[in-house]
Amino acid sequence: MPQHNGVGYSNQYSPIKQAQFRIVIGTFLGMVKGIFKRWGPGRFQYWDLMAGTGQSPDRSKPGSAAIFVEEALRLGVPFDAYLFEQNLHRFHDLSALLGHRDNVSCFQGLHQDNVGMTLSGKNHRARYGMIYVDPNGGVSDTSAINEIITAPGYDRVDVLIHVAANDGYKRGKTKPIGERIDGVLDSIKKKTWLIREPYTAHQWTMLVGTDYPAFDRWKTHGFFPVDSEQGQEWFFKLNYTAAEQKRYINRPEAIGVIQNLPGVPCPSPVPGGAKEGDGEGQLDLPNLP
Ligand SMILES: C[S@@+](CC[C@H](N)C(=O)[O-])C[C@H]1O[C@@H](n2cnc3c(N)ncnc32)[C@H](O)[C@@H]1O
Repeated sequence: MPQHNGVGYSNQYSPIKQAQFRIVIGTFLGMVKGIFKRWGPGRFQYWDLMAGTGQSPDRSKPGSAAIFVEEALRLGVPFDAYLFEQNLHRFHDLSALLGHRDNVSCFQGLHQDNVGMTLSGKNHRARYGMIYVDPNGGVSDTSAINEIITAPGYDRVDVLIHVAANDGYKRGKTKPIGERIDGVLDSIKKKTWLIREPYTAHQWTMLVGTDYPAFDRWKTHGFFPVDSEQGQEWFFKLNYTAAEQKRYINRPEAIGVIQNLPGVPCPSPVPGGAKEGDGEGQLDLPNLP
C-alpha cells in the first residue's frame, strides 16, 4: 500500500476500510448501548492504539478516531476515548482534531508505554469497550492489548484488528507459525475470534476478538467465527501463501492449522444475562468487495 508521510493510505482501499470500521464500531456501540440500557448506565471505553492523525492525509475524510467519536455521538452512547500515536507531527494533528473534548485523551509515544495510564485501579463493575489495532503492516506486539483485557474489570473489552495478510505476514515464506496471524490471535486472551472475508491482493481483513459472541449480529455484517467452515477457509488463506496452501491443503495435520484454530465454538454465556440482539444501532452492510 502506498504511504503518505509514513502512514499507509490508498484512495481506492482506505475508504473501504473506513466504511467497514464504521459498521463494526457501530455494531459494538449498539450492543453495549443495549447492555447499558438493561443493566444500568456506563461509558463505552475506546482505545485506538495506532490512531494516526484521526483523518485522511488530505484532511477531507475522518480516520478511525474521528469515526468512533462520530458514531458514539450519533448513537448517543457515553464514552471515553484513549488515542495513541507515536509520531509527533501526527500526534499534533490528532490532538488538534479531537483533543479538545473532555472525554478524549491523546497520548504521544508508543502505546505500550502509555496504556497503563488509562486503566483505573478502582473497583468497578465490568467495563465494556473496544481496542482498535490498525498497523501499517502486521501486529508485532500484543502486550498492550493483554495489559488492558487482563486488568481487573476490563475482561469484557473486545479487540478489533485490521491487517493485511500479504503485507504483514506471508512475505517471509519460511516464517514459523508463531509469526503468522494465528500466532497473533493465540497471544491475545480472547475466547472467540471472528473474521471478515479478506479483500484485494493485499488480503486486508478485520478480526474481532470477543467474549460476547452475538454471532447472528456479526454474521449480518459478514463476520464468521474463525472455527466455522467459512471462517476456516478464509483464515487458512490468510496464514499461508498460495504455494503453502497447495502443499498443505491435503494434509492439514502437517501444520495443525485446521485442527488448532484459535477461538472456541460459542460456549461463553452472554455477560450479565443480556440476550443476543440486545442493543440498537444495527447498520446496513454496504456492498464491500
Ligand atoms: C495505519 S496508521 C493508523 C490509521 C488510523 N487507524 C486511521 O484509520 O485513521 C498506523 C499509525 O500507527 C502509528 N503507530 C505504529 N506503532 C505504534 C505504537 N507502537 N504506538 C503508537 N503509535 C503507533 C504509526 O505512527 C501510524 O501513524
